Amino acid sequence: MAHKIAVLPGDGIGPEITEQAVRVLGALGLDLELHTEPVGGAAYDVHGHPLPASTLNLAKESAAILFGAVGDWKYDSLARELRPEQAILGLRKALGLFANLRPAILYPQLANASSLKPEVVSGLDILIVRELTGDIYFGQPRGVREVADGPFKGERQGFDTMHYAESEVRRIAHVAFQAAQKRSKKLCSVDKANVLETSQFWRDTVIEVAREYPDVALSHMYVDNAAMQLVRAPKEFDVVVTGNLFGDILSDEAAMLTGSIGMLPSASLNASNQGLYEPSHGSAPDIAGKNIANPLATILSAAMLLRYSLNEAGRADKIEEAVQAVLQQGLRTADIFEPGTTRVSTSEMGDAVLKALK
Ligand code: IPM
Ligand code: MN
Repeated sequence: MAHKIAVLPGDGIGPEITEQAVRVLGALGLDLELHTEPVGGAAYDVHGHPLPASTLNLAKESAAILFGAVGDWKYDSLARELRPEQAILGLRKALGLFANLRPAILYPQLANASSLKPEVVSGLDILIVRELTGDIYFGQPRGVREVADGPFKGERQGFDTMHYAESEVRRIAHVAFQAAQKRSKKLCSVDKANVLETSQFWRDTVIEVAREYPDVALSHMYVDNAAMQLVRAPKEFDVVVTGNLFGDILSDEAAMLTGSIGMLPSASLNASNQGLYEPSHGSAPDIAGKNIANPLATILSAAMLLRYSLNEAGRADKIEEAVQAVLQQGLRTADIFEPGTTRVSTSEMGDAVLKALK
């Protein structure tokens, strides 16, 4: 039976980078049924909503979603619920995509791209496991209200709510422990347990889950220290598990350690391994339509799609090897270009990956 895949290109460079990933998926001899729908600003333009029912339904019916990127300044003045970002938040919530896997890998061929010293980052290979459907991102109540009493009585006040239910912490902890078992059996849980009740509860719950994984060495770190250690000695980390907000921030930091956010894929999975796969970078509207964006993060996201949602690890490996091969050939899009390498366009990079696959 054909695997149904939703292709949601989105805004900015989204369409041109997903186009290359779709070409790669099409070249592997798999029985795939690809359907494309607009999302984000592109969907707002056509349907008046960033996540219209037609797009959401396609996503729900698909085994996996290949997602480009959303967002553009021209939507900044829209009400919050109509902004492009709501599409990705809505998809995460509607599909229960609670487990966000964000690898930060420094490819040896790109060792000079990092702003850190080569000896600090060479060989870097971290996996951030970010909880994606809870925390202050989705907590209720939230909004703007009038302060009832105290020193700010009578003023307006913005507020959000941070909370984590036990089952939410447990399920993401299981994902992280299992990922650690497949890697170097080291897991660092990041929280702010010295200040936040939610974090103390997170830490206690992760410690309980750890009893089921005696082979994994669990450590804990406060998020401020983790931000510091990530730039001081990033290779001390292997798998990191953390909540939605801290994971958002730390995964951008970890991505930048590699100096090439255009290279990093991500997977967002639910309990039945249905997943949304997207590059870690954004929609980069400033370079949209110029055929200069780096499609490798999206191509590597397609590899994660094969690995996690289609159980096609062998073909995923092939894509990853093809990407290494084109880097080895010295081909570089503008974002990772350095003297002595060959500058290529978005579509030329896609061509090269396809050729390396053969
Ligand atoms: C990300 C993004 C999103 C987030 C935004 C676009 C809502 O920054 O995927 O990391 O904060 O989760
Ligand atoms: Mn982010």
